[in-house]
Amino acid sequence: MSEKRIAVIGTGYVGLVSGACFAYLGHKVIGLDIDAEKIEKLKNGEIPIYEPGLDRILNQAIESGNIEFTTDYAYAVKNSDFIFIAVGTPSKIDGSADLSYVKTAYDRIAELIDENDFKVIVNKSTVPVGTGRWAKKYIANLLKERGIKNPEERFEIVSNPEFLREGKAVEDFMNPDRVVVGADNRDVAGMVASLYEKLQPAMLITDLPTAEMIKYASNAFLATKISFINEIANVCEKVGADVTVVARGMGLDHRISPYFLNAGCGFGGSCFPKDVKALIYTAKEVGEEPELLNSVIDVNERQKLKPVEKLLKHIPDLKGKTIAVWGLAFKPETDDMREAPSIPIIKKLLELGATVKAYDPVAIPNAKAVFEQELKAYKGKLQFTETKEEAVQDADALLLVTEWNEFKDVNFDKLRGKVVIDGRNLWEPSIVRQFCKYESIGRP
Ligand code: UGA
Repeated sequence: MSEKRIAVIGTGYVGLVSGACFAYLGHKVIGLDIDAEKIEKLKNGEIPIYEPGLDRILNQAIESGNIEFTTDYAYAVKNSDFIFIAVGTPSKIDGSADLSYVKTAYDRIAELIDENDFKVIVNKSTVPVGTGRWAKKYIANLLKERGIKNPEERFEIVSNPEFLREGKAVEDFMNPDRVVVGADNRDVAGMVASLYEKLQPAMLITDLPTAEMIKYASNAFLATKISFINEIANVCEKVGADVTVVARGMGLDHRISPYFLNAGCGFGGSCFPKDVKALIYTAKEVGEEPELLNSVIDVNERQKLKPVEKLLKHIPDLKGKTIAVWGLAFKPETDDMREAPSIPIIKKLLELGATVKAYDPVAIPNAKAVFEQELKAYKGKLQFTETKEEAVQDADALLLVTEWNEFKDVNFDKLRGKVVIDGRNLWEPSIVRQFCKYESIGRP
């Protein structure tokens, strides 16, 4: 495989993981970010996010000289043939995707493409269906304004959505289920596909809007599976069935598959909530009424507060009570707090007068930022502890919100008499019930 020159715009978790992995595969990568402090850290091999395995890959890439970091757009664009855009596309209040960072990247790139260039601009960021074709016209126009001849021939737009899970991003990049490359120019799609040659992935080459839709449809489908199983869990509770066994029974049917059928207190993260909302927005924009997708979000919002509902059955008045919360990140193996179920749960507990002692193995610094207002408004009533034991010491109840490994083995004898609400079905009911008042999600 011949090495290619790649610039990655944005060194967030997608950009950094993709850049480091491309460099590891032998390509020459330039990571660009407008955040100078972040770039300085990266130059020294310091990683600004918690992502297992990334340090090893990145350090190896730095040592081999295959990756460098800069804040200089001109340097990045001039010295690359492929420019991956991996900047954030957060939700706006109306649910649509905020494309301002993506647009800024297009603007900066368009200032730097010259008469004899041919740059392949690859959207790695999740952008609404239609963005790629819009970008082609938008950038061509900017080049035309600069007097560049045949502007359409100076660059091409490609959609190459990412399917990386936080916490498993390096593993997912290196062992992809599939790589999707969408472009209106097949040859250029082939050029991007060849960047992944060493991984020998299942490769799907499509047109631009189809690739963009594959990303949204995939995330929306996974989110739908979760809301579906959560709804089934709630019914299971009423009819005496066990949702974990129901899910196992369903998952044995290969058409259903056993994955993403873990009932719990809902999905969070930077992707599912944002992408489902953006897809709803797109659907409405084109005159569709996406009822199923709306329900996926509604069911999830309700599900996040299930642990509190269950707690109130045992302790109807939380004033003067202390509640331990284990797990703050939206899922294990990440410090990411975005849309984490722990946020509405802790807010509700405080609102109801409880003192909350919360613990997470890595997310506490981010949690402190998320709960900045509550830390002030509720004074000492929200505390973050250094160990899980400290959180639960004088607590009346324990809520498990994120299923970190370190929560698996617990001596429930030490929690004798307390209420334990297991928001992730982590523990065996018959064991916990020997010592505690125990409830989980969708299990008798
Ligand atoms: C998700 C997708 O899984 C990736 O394929 C995709 O690339 C990524 O979004 C993205 O668009 O960038 P991620 O958000 O990292 O990845 O997290 P997941 O592991 O998918 O979990 C999402 C949420 O669903 C978590 O809150 C998790 O606790 C919850 N979940 C997951 C369940 O409640 N039940 C399940 O069975 C599975």
